[in-house]
Amino acid sequence: MSKSLFALSLLLLLLSLPSSLSQNPNPSSTAYSELKSYGFPVGLLPVNVASYSLNRTSCDFAVHLDGRCRITLPPDNYLASYERRITGKLVGGKIADLDGIRVRALFRWWSISGIRLSGDDLVFEVGVASARYPARNFDKVPECEGRAPKKADS
Ligand SMILES: *[C@@H]1O[C@H](CO)[C@@H](O)[C@H](O)[C@H]1NC(C)=O
Repeated sequence: MSKSLFALSLLLLLLSLPSSLSQNPNPSSTAYSELKSYGFPVGLLPVNVASYSLNRTSCDFAVHLDGRCRITLPPDNYLASYERRITGKLVGGKIADLDGIRVRALFRWWSISGIRLSGDDLVFEVGVASARYPARNFDKVPECEGRAPKKADS
């Protein structure tokens, strides 16, 4: 009896996994779907996007958050800080001229100047240095730390 109950709950868990993974946390915002359409994972932006714009001529984008946001980046647990306004250029597999995202490493803050797609990896550029991580680490939209979780609008 308990064995079949276990099997049933395992089955239910497996059935519920794919839908919870593909759930868009904030369908009212286009920023996440826009990231996806350019091949980037949605988790590059935190959950509190308030507005988003892209100039399709110049490829300049601007993301406004409803407040500054700090998250811990997988897998090395670097602290990342997002300004209220994040700007950059979306050009063929690359986010260039990025402004507004910093990471804490070696006792100081470094601006992430670009993010590039490379196969299944993301390459984060910090000046002349870069760090490579699997893009799947960023499949989930992160909550901001030290704030009440934001409910998804629907
Ligand atoms: C979009 O970019 C082009 C080229 O830089 C510029 O001429 C135009 O004014 C921009 N449009 C808006 C709405 O900012």
